[in-house]
Amino acid sequence: MKVDYTGKLITFEGIDYSGKSVQAKQLFEKLKLQNIPCTAFRDPGATRISEKIRGILLDNDHDEMTKWTELLLYEAARAQMVEESIIPALKKGEIVVCDRFYDSTSAYQGFGRELDLEMVNRANSIGSVGLVPDLTFLIDIDVKSALERRLRVNEKADRLEAQGDAFQERVRKGYLAIAEQEADRFRVINGNDTIENIARDIFKEFMRIM
Ligand code: TMP
Repeated sequence: MKVDYTGKLITFEGIDYSGKSVQAKQLFEKLKLQNIPCTAFRDPGATRISEKIRGILLDNDHDEMTKWTELLLYEAARAQMVEESIIPALKKGEIVVCDRFYDSTSAYQGFGRELDLEMVNRANSIGSVGLVPDLTFLIDIDVKSALERRLRVNEKADRLEAQGDAFQERVRKGYLAIAEQEADRFRVINGNDTIENIARDIFKEFMRIM
């Protein structure tokens, strides 16, 4: 979709417990400090309807959910967020920081669930209403370190996090493959460095596209 806007869409990607949400927040806070107009969303989420869909997707009680239903629910949540929240913010000229976007669907449903990648890509362009991020940070961390982080915070795994190590490995490899294919848009960041160092590197990269 051709949208007439001056804002930019910056997305954060990574496996569960990679630290991408922390980094999305860090960038958002730095932008605010510099008085750069910005807004932050999470996918799935950001709108009333998308948050409800998120609840359905992550509910551990929904064992019977099929892979295609899962894919379409992520796309539905995203389409609502794009039209209701992201496009209006971009039109106002804001920097939109989004914790996950359609690359998550390619990595989790495409590579993780092993759905046909071409069909996933087609669904992605509908779910994102044709919107493509200006810059995407992939916070890369190995699955073992991510699992150690989860055990440290001792949080109960949601339905996607509970898919096991082999699933997370496929997702990680998928992300790295997508980042290589779309090298112009992606920056792969080592997620094992300190929060402060990663945040500094990300801000530097962000300033380059401004
Ligand atoms: P979050 O924990 O980063 O908020 O994301 C929620 C979960 O949803 C996480 O396990 C990744 C998963 N997910 C997908 O499987 N496909 C998607 O398209 C998105 C956006 C998230």
